[in-house]
Amino acid sequence: AHLVAKRVRQRANWSRALAIYHDFRDGCATPLHRLRQVVDAMVVEMHAGLALEGGSKLKMLLSYVDNLPTGEENGLFYALDLGGTNFRVLRVQLAGTEGRILQQEYEEVSIPQALMVGSNEELFDFIVAELASFITREGEGFHPLLGRQRELGFTFSFPVKQTSIDSGNLLKWTKGFAIKETEYARIEPQEVQRSFKCCTSTSWNRRALLCHVVGKDVVEELQAAMGRHKLDMRVTALVNDTVGTLAGGRYWNEDVMVAVILGTGSNACYVERADAIPKWRGVLPKSGSTVINMEWGSFWSSHLPRTPVDDTLDADSLNPGDQGFEKLISGMYLGDIVRRILLKMAEEAALFGNTVPSNLFIPFILRTPDVSAMHADESADLKEVTRVLRVVFKTQASLRVRKIVVDVCDTVAGRAARLVAAGVVGILKKIGRDTVGNIDMARLKNNLAGKGRKTVVAMDGGLYEHYPKFRTYLNDTAVELLGKEAAEQVAVELSKDGSGIGAALLAASHSQYSSD
Ligand code: GLC
Repeated sequence: AHLVAKRVRQRANWSRALAIYHDFRDGCATPLHRLRQVVDAMVVEMHAGLALEGGSKLKMLLSYVDNLPTGEENGLFYALDLGGTNFRVLRVQLAGTEGRILQQEYEEVSIPQALMVGSNEELFDFIVAELASFITREGEGFHPLLGRQRELGFTFSFPVKQTSIDSGNLLKWTKGFAIKETEYARIEPQEVQRSFKCCTSTSWNRRALLCHVVGKDVVEELQAAMGRHKLDMRVTALVNDTVGTLAGGRYWNEDVMVAVILGTGSNACYVERADAIPKWRGVLPKSGSTVINMEWGSFWSSHLPRTPVDDTLDADSLNPGDQGFEKLISGMYLGDIVRRILLKMAEEAALFGNTVPSNLFIPFILRTPDVSAMHADESADLKEVTRVLRVVFKTQASLRVRKIVVDVCDTVAGRAARLVAAGVVGILKKIGRDTVGNIDMARLKNNLAGKGRKTVVAMDGGLYEHYPKFRTYLNDTAVELLGKEAAEQVAVELSKDGSGIGAALLAASHSQYSSD
């Protein structure tokens, strides 16, 4: 009787687990008609964000990049790339018309967790110290021009409201960068209250402090840190990583019009006609076009498929209510969405037996590379899933449970990839590159518009590079949305590490010594 009762319980649990999964899967559904609504919503929001400041959740930030690399850039330039868990320093020797990049060297340093949530000053001091030591180790073949100050392109992958090519204020932190609790405890509550004239609940205090820290000129802060370290260097270009990727991609391929980052965070930029930007103030650029940093991580539309699991992920995050699109699609969050749904099944349907494995409670313990590994597992007994469950969650599970784990990965990554495709098609639609023969010939007159034979989307980030199933879903969905013929005019290309080189190239084209 005991055994029979146990079996009945197990069967009930299993159907409960399936029901939870099916509910989740239905909530994540992205049928084509829904994706088309997302495409259209993206276009509408792009227009709204370009119309006026704050006109949309899509910030559509001006980059002040009105010219893209031509291949004629010349000299030794540096780049500093900050935006994820690592930062990079890089130098490139550009050969001008004689042969593009002669030589390059880079170093990657991981940022201690404490600094990611520490003060700006500590973070910048750490980075500049590394940069200074990188410079002292200049290899052979790099030739700083005599009497010239070293120049640097700063890739800063956060939303920045730029005031020129080499200045801008941080609007907010994203992707797990924030200010640590003790930091905001240092601010007097009255001060917080004064600046917000509102309640003093903890969450408001926290947000108030974030506002205290953001809003400073990022370049000034970096330059100040360079001063403290006696580093004689000048920042001549401040760029988002998407913009760096676009510039890096364009250096090699004239048809690059759009760049997308699919990494810890996600964002896109593209070449826009200056006269299509009503919020533009001042003289229009000679090129007639400029690069817009969309900050698409904060895109939102009621057509996006969002489930209760996404709601709790958002509520528990460092930036609730913000970066809604990013939380559905980027590498930082995919693993945690999977963990959360597995936790729900473990708690409510004993997916991993009678006790819930304690590691399932730990936020962000399941990383996206592990999701990719499980998703790619084609072995009959799902060895890789067994390994990840053992290593990450310290648990084991039957084959049918392991299969459901793979299904969860497929649902989460599939939704993300299909939404990214819809986003990209939205951009193509906005610039009239989504249908056959729809390329506006007038645009081809300026240097930013590419040759127009093809429209190339430069992609970078681990999610695209290291997650084959994600990449396949993305490409297939783009073809579904565009139709086969129009899709043939579009190419998505991996532009690995283009953002650092792109920033160095933009530093070169905006050099204080350049003639124009
Ligand atoms: C986040 C940042 C954005 C960046 C993206 C990719 O969304 O806000 O500026 O481009 O991550 O790194």
